Amino acid sequence: KKITIAIDGFSSTGKSTVAKQLAKHLGYVYVDTGAMYRAVTYYAMQKGFINKAGFDTEALINDLPKITISFKFSESKGFAEVYLNNENVEKQIRTLQVSSFVSQVAAVSQVRKKLVEQQQNMGKDKGVVMDGRDIGTVVFPDAELKLFMTASAETRAQRRYDELIERGDKIEYVEVLKNVQDRDYIDSNRKDSPLVKADEAIEFDNSNMTLTEQFDEILKLVER
Ligand code: C5P
Repeated sequence: KKITIAIDGFSSTGKSTVAKQLAKHLGYVYVDTGAMYRAVTYYAMQKGFINKAGFDTEALINDLPKITISFKFSESKGFAEVYLNNENVEKQIRTLQVSSFVSQVAAVSQVRKKLVEQQQNMGKDKGVVMDGRDIGTVVFPDAELKLFMTASAETRAQRRYDELIERGDKIEYVEVLKNVQDRDYIDSNRKDSPLVKADEAIEFDNSNMTLTEQFDEILKLVER
């Protein structure tokens, strides 16, 4: 019987790596909800709603009906890439610039409402692994399995830094660490759907766990 698996936690805790692997193993659909918030942020940046003067929240809210986020499975990548109004933005949304604004955009209730509805629709037939910040608490409070991933800020920043360097971005580790800490703070303190562990969620501190160890532990929980 297919179930819903909700994976929440702080930034760069390796949620998506585990979620992708799990979805592949189980033949489930993987949904990266962070990519959706990132795509909306990218849209706002492209439109100039986010600039040196600040963030024009109203302008973004007015444009929400014009924003369509979708996913298309990429055979070569092995996961579904995110599209903004039919343009593949998978690469554009992973920059430190998008990362530095995304938590502000994700704090806008109207943005959350739109994306949460879409996420609920995508997971309505179960057989889904969804990762984010509010999946077990808001999007699928009835999910059969809820995981909450944690790791030290330093471990997480190092992982994100390695990824960004790998793609050729020029950045400093301290910038990445600051971004991770800022997002943790904003995500945990916003009024609408703050990042909290659902009571029933099983916590995983993966600072000192290999991917294989993590995966094996989680698979035991799925098969339980
Ligand atoms: O998971 P990722 O780091 O790509 O998410 C980017 C940002 O999107 C998070 O820092 C958070 O502000 C927001 N987010 C959210 N709710 C989700 C997923 C992501 O608020 N379900």
